[in-house]
Amino acid sequence: MASARGEFSSRFGFLMAASGSAVGLGNIWGFPTNTASNGGAAFLFTYLVLAFVLAYPALMAELIIGRHARSNAITALKSISTGPKSQLLAVIVGVAGMITVSFILSFYAIVSGWMIAFFIDPLARILGMSDLSLWLTSDTEIRNSLFVLIFMSLTVYIISAGVKDGIEKWASRLMPSLVGILLLLILYVFTLPGAMDGLRAYLVPDFSRFADPQLLINAMGQAFFSLSLGVGTMLVYGSYINKEENLPVVGSLVALLDIGIAVLAGLLILPAMYVALASGVEIFDEAGGLIAGPGLIVSVLPALFNSMGVIGVFVALAFFALMTIASLTSSISMLEVPVAYAVENRGMGRNKAAVLIGGVISCISLLIVFNFDPLFDLVAGFTTERSQPLLSLFICVFAAWIWSRDGVLAEIKHGSAEADQGLFWKIWPFYVKFICPLAILVVYFQ
Ligand code: TRP
Repeated sequence: MASARGEFSSRFGFLMAASGSAVGLGNIWGFPTNTASNGGAAFLFTYLVLAFVLAYPALMAELIIGRHARSNAITALKSISTGPKSQLLAVIVGVAGMITVSFILSFYAIVSGWMIAFFIDPLARILGMSDLSLWLTSDTEIRNSLFVLIFMSLTVYIISAGVKDGIEKWASRLMPSLVGILLLLILYVFTLPGAMDGLRAYLVPDFSRFADPQLLINAMGQAFFSLSLGVGTMLVYGSYINKEENLPVVGSLVALLDIGIAVLAGLLILPAMYVALASGVEIFDEAGGLIAGPGLIVSVLPALFNSMGVIGVFVALAFFALMTIASLTSSISMLEVPVAYAVENRGMGRNKAAVLIGGVISCISLLIVFNFDPLFDLVAGFTTERSQPLLSLFICVFAAWIWSRDGVLAEIKHGSAEADQGLFWKIWPFYVKFICPLAILVVYFQ
């Protein structure tokens, strides 16, 4: 069994894969719109604090456990358990994480499918195929099903190629392109009238909102979703990190990349919305807030691109390429969780596991597509607001209360021999032991 376990071939490869997982629709869509509807920089500031003091320690817990055990989440949590009770908890948390991440992927794939459809749309328009263009941008069950299947096929394709030749290779190609496209789009949007109003909406804090508990809840949910925590994604990616690697350093680079790209995405989305406003597109909903839901991506921004003439075609292409890339490097990290388990603990071939599990998740996606109204919000809400933070709490409990302190330190020392003298070891154990679980509980029961 110890034979063909994958490993990332370099620090760069791991960073691209893990930041690829972290950077997704949550950053480019969720973060900017959350910021806009929660008092601008008041949210930005709260988010930055929570991401560093809560999400980063929880991320480290997953990376350390994963690299220590070099296995999927269930086996990993079992391996640091100390008795029958914690063994049982390990199985429950591991299995719950696997189920949760599969459901997250099932709704994520639907939205990602829209991104592919909107990416093809400008091409259809260049070619004068207006019927196709109308079909691609109309919200129909048949379009949604087709693009879910296309997106899931891409995900399965990459995952079946393995850790180095699939995940690492594609993340290393796609993530630099993502950053490049994002920067170009920001530069372009900044030249347009209205952009500065958007920048103001983004960066000027509404201080009265700091006291709002809803802001805190949203910021924490956003931070945990964005760093892909709780469900074993980062644990599994951690299990593919080389033993020589300095974990606190690579972990903080992943958090910095994730947070940095979210902040950058805010510099694109909010100015773009106010540019749309300046060219006559409605950007506020009935309640007077900024349109933040699907309407933003599938109607406000496309309306803006349409108003730009020929150049709008290229801007639309670039924007939806950006969204598709962000989705894909995240979805592969979700599928890897159950696939790693099936390969390691059920002795399945990687190819077969990817196709089979990807197939089951696609079926769930289709079920949601055809029963969109109750199911989509239900699945998205339950997995990301209920299940994910709670599971993350349990992983912190495993790292700080169940696993021995010496075991944790020994693992960190693999890549940094003087770790016990460093700042990380002075602060982190206390954080995962007390602050993270407590903060998660407080926000959870709000
Ligand atoms: N972090 C990704 C985003 O921001 C989504 C994601 C990838 C995720 N893997 C995950 C979310 C695991 C929760 C759990 O879009």
